[in-house]
Amino acid sequence: MQPISMTQRVCLVTGGNSGIGFEMCRGMAKAGFHVVMVSRGKERGAPALEKLQSEFGESIEMMLCDMSDLENIPILCAEYTAKFDRLDVLLNNAGALWGNREHTAQGNEMTFGVNHLGYFAMTQAFLPLLKSTENSRIVNTASEAHKMSRLDFTNLNFENKRYSQWRTYCNSKLCNILFTRELARQLEGTGIITHSFHPGVVRTRFAEDARGIMRLFWPLFRLTMIGSKRGAKTGLHLALSDDAGSSTGEYWSTSKRRKGNRAARNDVNATRLWELTEKMLDE
Ligand SMILES: NC(=O)c1ccc[n+]([C@@H]2O[C@H](COP(=O)([O-])OP(=O)(O)OC[C@H]3O[C@@H](n4cnc5c(N)ncnc54)[C@H](OP(=O)(O)O)[C@@H]3O)[C@@H](O)[C@H]2O)c1
Repeated sequence: MQPISMTQRVCLVTGGNSGIGFEMCRGMAKAGFHVVMVSRGKERGAPALEKLQSEFGESIEMMLCDMSDLENIPILCAEYTAKFDRLDVLLNNAGALWGNREHTAQGNEMTFGVNHLGYFAMTQAFLPLLKSTENSRIVNTASEAHKMSRLDFTNLNFENKRYSQWRTYCNSKLCNILFTRELARQLEGTGIITHSFHPGVVRTRFAEDARGIMRLFWPLFRLTMIGSKRGAKTGLHLALSDDAGSSTGEYWSTSKRRKGNRAARNDVNATRLWELTEKMLDE
C-alpha cells in the first residue's frame, strides 16, 4: 500500500495519552495538524483517544509503542511510513521516574533507557522523513531537574551504585538537553529545527511510581503545581511559533530561551553523549 500523500501537516507525540503529551496533542490538533498520539499501550491509550476524537474527530489517531523495548520503535516507524509520507513535528515527550531500579528489554537502566535512548532512537528512526518534509521540527521535553544531575559518562546506566530514582531522572533530563544541542549541530543545513524545554512543575501522573520521601510528599507538592494545559504551552510554542523557528538547539521554559546550567551548555559532552549513545545502540 502506498502512503497517503497528505497536504495536511502531521505531528507525532510520544506519551500523548497523558499529562503534558495529551495537551500537546490537543494543541497541535487545534493548530490544524493531523496528530498521531503514540501510547505505550491500548489500556491507557484508548480512553485518551476517545476524548481527543470527541473533540477533533479523525484528525487524531493512535499508534502504539512501548519504548522500554527499542525494537518497538522501527515497528512504529514502519506503521507510520506505510500511512504517511511526511512528518512535520516530532514531539519526544514519553518519560517517567522509576521508583525502583528496572531494566529495558535491551538491558539498559530504565530511566536512561526510556527517557534518553527512547528520544534518540525515535528521532533516528524518523529522521529520513523529517528531512524530506520541509520546515520540520523536533521538540524534546526535558526539565529543570537537569540542574540536579550528576551524569557520569563512564557509567550512563548507573550500574554498581545504590539506585537513586531522583538522580537517574535528573541525569536523563540533562541527556535530553545535550542530545538536542548535538542534534541541532548535526542537522545544520537541513532546515530542521530542534529545541528542548522545561514544561513547568506540572500536575500529571508523573512520579506516581516514586518511592520513599518523594512518595510521601508528592501529593502535598501536587497542590502547588500547574495544570497540564499550561504545562504544554512551551512545547506548543516550540512546535508552532516563528519565534522558535528563528534558532535551533536551545533550551526553553515559559516560552523563553533559557541557558540551562553549565553542564547543559557543554558541547563537548553533548558530542560525547551522542557518540556513546550511538555505540550503545549499535551493540
Ligand atoms: N510533570 C512534571 O512536572 C514534569 C516536569 C518536567 C518534565 N516533565 C517531563 O514531561 C514528560 C511527560 O510527563 P508527564 O508529566 O506528562 O507525565 P505522565 O502524565 O505520566 O505522562 C508520561 C507519558 O509517558 C508515557 N510513557 C512512560 N513510559 C513509557 C514507555 N516505556 N513507553 C512509552 N511511553 C511511556 C506514559 O505512558 P502511560 O500512560 O502508559 O504510563 C505517558 O503517556 C516526561 O518526559 C517528563 O520527564 C514533567
